[in-house]
Amino acid sequence: MKAVKLREGIYWVGAIDWSIRNFHGYITDQGTTYNAYLIIDEKITLIDTVKAPFAEEMLERIRSIVPVEKIDVVISNHVEMDHSGSLPRIMELCPNASIYTSTPNGVKGLTAHYGASDKYIPAASGDQISLGKRTLHFTGTPMLHWPDNMVTYCPEEKILFSNDAFGQHLATTERLETQLPLHTVLEGAKGYYANIIMCYGRQAAAAWKVVKGLDVEMIAPSHGLVWTDHISDILDAYETWSSKDPETGAVIVYDSMWHSTEKMALTITDAFKAAGVEAHLFDMKANDWSKIMPFVLTNKYIAVGSPTLNNQMMPTVAAFLCYLKGLSPKNREVFAFGSYGWGGQSIGQIAKELEECGFHKCLDDIRIQYIPSQEQLDGITQKVTELIGK
Ligand code: FEO
Repeated sequence: MKAVKLREGIYWVGAIDWSIRNFHGYITDQGTTYNAYLIIDEKITLIDTVKAPFAEEMLERIRSIVPVEKIDVVISNHVEMDHSGSLPRIMELCPNASIYTSTPNGVKGLTAHYGASDKYIPAASGDQISLGKRTLHFTGTPMLHWPDNMVTYCPEEKILFSNDAFGQHLATTERLETQLPLHTVLEGAKGYYANIIMCYGRQAAAAWKVVKGLDVEMIAPSHGLVWTDHISDILDAYETWSSKDPETGAVIVYDSMWHSTEKMALTITDAFKAAGVEAHLFDMKANDWSKIMPFVLTNKYIAVGSPTLNNQMMPTVAAFLCYLKGLSPKNREVFAFGSYGWGGQSIGQIAKELEECGFHKCLDDIRIQYIPSQEQLDGITQKVTELIGK
């Protein structure tokens, strides 16, 4: 396996994880990459590493350019183990290499994961180091996606090594976004943002502003493709996702036992559509929650329905709400619905969960006992129509 040249003296030396299908509950059905970058200068520098099982793949790529032992400097932009997992192996092979990491959280994180080392060098926002012909400048981006995150900018090359920000979970032999259809890469970035970054929207907006202020010709994230010709597209997308509330669109999520809640869900979907609102329906028996999050990211209304099973909502719907609450999108209009037999607790439980997400309840709970009549379904249509007509 060979390194991939990005610029004269700058190489991708990461690893491709073709098989990963679940990243902490985020279904990564297109795999991912762990990107590490090698800079050949007076000081030979490695930016980030890869997940531990992929260490040899990274080392083989580095060795295709230079003996690993010659690495003088390592930049650890992020402690999470998909990027730092091979750091112990590098420290073993390059015992004299200096490891720059954010302060205080990068140093704390690396110490907690791999033990204390006098090779950890705290890098504060605004600090810079010289590699010889090039310099590297550090900017903290806390909570994108852990407290320790930072980005590294090389002004001489106009490259931003952005770590998790602007990444995508896409396993591919290609390295640049220009080598795949743009919509594929942007969809990957959207899924990644929705499932990893959405809860840190304020921090994402701050990071976006930092990048906007830099002269950048290449954004090299830690997952997926490197941005070259479409930097404005990904920056515009981050600006929209992080700072603008969706103005329209509806997401309807439900599970059903005997199709009654399903009839309600279908009616709600049709009613939104008839009122001119694009609607996206998800049966939790057939969809994973992480696949719904990109729709949550860009749609205004969220309707969630479940029948009552043993005094509870369906476990699939509970899992969706748990994941949704963690990602905490803001300013959504929501309501709960469901059919029930006797207790009917599920609908109130859903409404409570949605309230705890901080959303605005735009319709009272819609509850129907047993099988909805056509008249009751027409009533649902009317409620949605009035809601959109307001
Ligand atoms: Fe790709 Fe937060 O690690």
